[in-house]
Amino acid sequence: MGRLDNKVAVITGAASGMGRATAIRFAGEGAAIVIADLNQEGGEAAVRECRENGGRAVFQKTDVADEAQVKAAIARAVSEFGRLDITYNNAGLGGALGPIENTTVENWDRTFAVLLRSVFLGIKHSVPEMRKVGGGSIISTASIAGILGAAGPLVYSVAKCGVIHLTRCAAVELGKDRIRVNCICPGGINTPLLHKHIPGGEEATRQLLQNIQPIPKVGDGDDIAGMALYLASDDSQWVTGTAMVVDGGFVARGSFLGGPSVFDVPTRWSGPSFEKD
Ligand SMILES: NC(=O)c1ccc[n+]([C@@H]2O[C@H](COP(=O)([O-])OP(=O)(O)OC[C@H]3O[C@@H](n4cnc5c(N)ncnc54)[C@H](O)[C@@H]3O)[C@@H](O)[C@H]2O)c1
Repeated sequence: MGRLDNKVAVITGAASGMGRATAIRFAGEGAAIVIADLNQEGGEAAVRECRENGGRAVFQKTDVADEAQVKAAIARAVSEFGRLDITYNNAGLGGALGPIENTTVENWDRTFAVLLRSVFLGIKHSVPEMRKVGGGSIISTASIAGILGAAGPLVYSVAKCGVIHLTRCAAVELGKDRIRVNCICPGGINTPLLHKHIPGGEEATRQLLQNIQPIPKVGDGDDIAGMALYLASDDSQWVTGTAMVVDGGFVARGSFLGGPSVFDVPTRWSGPSFEKD
């Protein structure tokens, strides 16, 4: 028996990284999954991996910044699998990077649309479907950058902080409907979002991330999938409004104690990891 038997999930950003790892894990626990992502090739590969892991899955091409497309991804879960129990708002990108004085309003808005408006839309359009089945679990990916001022690029960090507070506010509003709302704050995870920009790619990123937290192990998608599974399952039935830190102890030690960090970057735009910037 799986921990998510008979449950239906929409996972955004599941063509790659931690979303993909989570989709495969959920599939192995009995869930049916809508993989919602801009990346068609990666999304279709994730569908195959979910099926190989024993689950049902379909791909829905989705830009999470677009309300109609988020609504369509939720509707796909219902048309394909009959209900919606779990929404994981996970898609993300680096967005506007660099010093505040070089950040354009346009890039501020684009970053917020993908990282924060998307979470609002995912919650908004999940609620009616979850009410119909007596409740549900909404999970979003925030970041330790939304907790620690020094741990990430500015616009990204502020948007992720917004995800944490949106989680709390929505949890308060939706508790009466048995709809739980939680977010996950990953530390440094070796996914394409990070390693597409780091010279030397995945291996160089691995070396960079090995020792930045007390546990000398590089975070990977499975570390996040484990927390997402807990939050999606009935094991967390009395858990709502939380920001679960999954970071090998990075936040426990505190920030970088000021000064430049490994995340300090020059001004540029960082789009979805499957696209060249
Ligand atoms: N990698 C890290 O160190 C780290 C740390 C903390 C938080 N995060 C967050 O984790 C989440 C997952 O990122 P990841 O590290 O697995 O990266 P990833 O690039 O491997 O996966 C992100 C996915 O989101 C998709 N995506 C991007 N923009 C989209 C859009 N507008 N609509 C639909 N899909 C879109 C991409 O195509 C990709 O498949 C993101 O929200 C990211 O901000 C990452």
